[in-house]
Amino acid sequence: MPENLAISHSWPELRSVLTSIVGEQNCLFDPQEIAPYCEDWRQVHKGSTPAVVRPACTDEVASLVRMCAQRRIPIVPQGGNTSLVDGATPSAEGNEIVLSLSRMNKVRDLDLVNLTLTVEAGITLKAAQEAALAEDCMLPLSMGSEGSAQIGGALSTNAGGNNTVRYGNARDLVLGLEVVLPDAEIWNGLRRLRKDNTGYCLRQLFVGAEGTLGIITAAVLKLVPRPHDVAVAFCAVPSEQAALDLFMLCRGRHYNSIQAFEYMCGPGIDLVLKHIPGTQFPLAKPAGHYALVELADYSPHAGLREKLEDVLGNAMDAGLLQDAVLAGSSAERASLWRLREEQSEAQKREAASVKNDISVPVSKVAEFLVRAGAACECQFPGVRVIPYGHMGDGNIHFNLLPAPGVGNSTFLKQTEAIMDAVNEVVRQLDGSFSAEHGIGRVKPYMMEEWRGGAELATMRRIKAALDPLGIMNPGKVLPGEPTL
Ligand code: MLT
Ligand code: ZN
Repeated sequence: MPENLAISHSWPELRSVLTSIVGEQNCLFDPQEIAPYCEDWRQVHKGSTPAVVRPACTDEVASLVRMCAQRRIPIVPQGGNTSLVDGATPSAEGNEIVLSLSRMNKVRDLDLVNLTLTVEAGITLKAAQEAALAEDCMLPLSMGSEGSAQIGGALSTNAGGNNTVRYGNARDLVLGLEVVLPDAEIWNGLRRLRKDNTGYCLRQLFVGAEGTLGIITAAVLKLVPRPHDVAVAFCAVPSEQAALDLFMLCRGRHYNSIQAFEYMCGPGIDLVLKHIPGTQFPLAKPAGHYALVELADYSPHAGLREKLEDVLGNAMDAGLLQDAVLAGSSAERASLWRLREEQSEAQKREAASVKNDISVPVSKVAEFLVRAGAACECQFPGVRVIPYGHMGDGNIHFNLLPAPGVGNSTFLKQTEAIMDAVNEVVRQLDGSFSAEHGIGRVKPYMMEEWRGGAELATMRRIKAALDPLGIMNPGKVLPGEPTL
């Protein structure tokens, strides 16, 4: 908590104020009810809070922020609580209120002419996708956690996911935002304009700010027409480099259709088959490396299956492919995708993991995988290196699991040492230590080294200007507290 932040309230009085804003049933004070809001999805970080509040509308969010600002009470905005860097849970000190956006889950507007979807922050990504599909449109943001992750959180972390290779990150899909600022003012920037050069682009300041500059309460998102032809292949490839070469081959032939290109390794697939009921291995024999390719076109007559077969035939001739299976139906597509989307859940069921959400230039992804794997195996003997991720945009989830016989808590003590070893390779390859999961409370210690100097100083000035009391999601993103 910032030094200037002196709490001046009594909890009984506070309870009655919170209750008067959102109603009794939407204030949680009971420790058992509160517990799920305090623990992160990975069950690694456990915080504490005296209260969880669940506002129903933007005005209620503003009233809560005003009340907290007056009393200097820090606020942790929370969406689906799927952060992988402890970005949405309170600290262990127990002095931060959790503000859950879950009740603000309405579709406000779907505009077929402007191809926009206006939603409240608490809608799940899946529900927003379904609203678009119901009108034969697609919201091109997709990730494994989409059933729980909410739009406000996805924007606050500038989520990436599987379709970044074609449509960019969450940032690229936002046309407008509504934000409750730290002084409780509501900024209504819910514009649907494709061009709007009117000074600083404020919405992009809040995207990726992880709730440290204000609370996103609604957004206008770009839609695209729903693709009517989709082809998916699950491929066994001989090496990391072959996977990258396969990507380049597919991209070269089908630049306008390639919608996802995902990498998985042999041990990662083994864990999915072991832990996720209903999953099946679709090829004749296991391999060391796999790629999942998805092509999509808006026309139903694009002939993508034949095109994908053709490019995979060329890849086979060039020695880039060992085997492949193409989905013949949407059910088969979904089951191939499960092998990728369940990687995270399967690892969680196996053991604790150290996650490295890194990016490098696409040209260096294969080299990164080889070098980071070698570095970890050398420095942490026996550690299980199980990477997967969005190879087509250079983002790899370079995860490590404990060596057989090593307990979770012993292993997790090495978290920073492992992250530092991986990041050393990332640095040599001109990459980033955080690609799409954000900084949260896990990575602020890296900010000084990676973004120090003018960049971090400017971030601190922005934080101090917008949130001088330091009440918005403290302890996240920036190391230490802003100098006021
Ligand atoms: C994914 O791509 O599956 C997500 O980013 C989740 C994860 O890295 O665990
Ligand atoms: Zn990812």
